[in-house]
Amino acid sequence: MKVAVIGAGNMGGAIAHALAKGTVIKTDDIYVSNPSWGKLQSLQEAHPELHVMDSNIEASKNVDIVIVAVKPWLIENVINSMNLKPNQILVSVAAGIDFNQLEHYAGIQMPMFRIVPNTAIVYMESMTLIAARYTTMEQDKLIVDMFNEMGLALLVPESQIPATTALASCGIAFVLKYIQASMQAGVEMGIYPKAAREMIAQSVKGAAELILNNPETHPAVEIDKVTTPGGITIKGINELEHEGFTSAVIKAMKACNMK
Ligand SMILES: NC(=O)c1ccc[n+]([C@@H]2O[C@H](COP(=O)([O-])OP(=O)(O)OC[C@H]3O[C@@H](n4cnc5c(N)ncnc54)[C@H](OP(=O)(O)O)[C@@H]3O)[C@@H](O)[C@H]2O)c1
Repeated sequence: MKVAVIGAGNMGGAIAHALAKGTVIKTDDIYVSNPSWGKLQSLQEAHPELHVMDSNIEASKNVDIVIVAVKPWLIENVINSMNLKPNQILVSVAAGIDFNQLEHYAGIQMPMFRIVPNTAIVYMESMTLIAARYTTMEQDKLIVDMFNEMGLALLVPESQIPATTALASCGIAFVLKYIQASMQAGVEMGIYPKAAREMIAQSVKGAAELILNNPETHPAVEIDKVTTPGGITIKGINELEHEGFTSAVIKAMKACNMK
């Protein structure tokens, strides 16, 4: 199975690295194109078997899967110029470009996926949402397997892409904002920023592990375990509520839902 990655920026570069590190696609079967050479050179240094080039047409012409990871305003020209074939699979990373637009740009009906990763893809810890059109179950499995190696991947209907993007792609910025705010609190209480950064990030990772490793649990159950009656944690939790924490998070998520 040969794969082209068109655009080697934050997303395309991370996807190319992750594909090369993963087991679903052989490194020798990965073709990456980008107009400037700097990013291509570092990809090639990290994975000498991977093919790099500055021509999208060259990269995409003999592959089974074409992953387009350019900015949304470039996607029309880039897809248009590649002359994709109906037996290829088009995977678009571009935010806000729907299947109707992709089909229009490709000029043919072909298997298509829209994927929404988040920036943790660089450490193979992305939450990646995937929507599919004109695909078979085997193709769905292939793409989900590819992105499961980069964290966790879930198939969703296209209609849920805006809401799930808010939760998982924008949501990572809210978690980072929590880490930043907690660091500020730590510094005020006399903890050095570097130490606070590690303590809080590991706590966030630990909280995520508590949820991800036990499908039966719920945040309320895990919070209950930390909140001794009359103890200090419940004081902090109630303070968060007095200050509108839950409401602020709900409003922030809904503000990102570009329906
Ligand atoms: N960043 C995120 O959190 C995130 C999350 C989900 C989805 N996305 C989507 O991912 C896509 C890429 O975003 P990004 O953050 O990776 O952007 P980026 O870092 O700017 O990367 C875009 C890459 O495309 C290259 N490029 C420009 N024109 C091209 C062309 N004609 N053919 C091939 N490659 C070309 C650029 O090369 P030069 O730098 O050499 O010009 C650059 O390396 C966007 O559509 C965005 O909506 C991003």
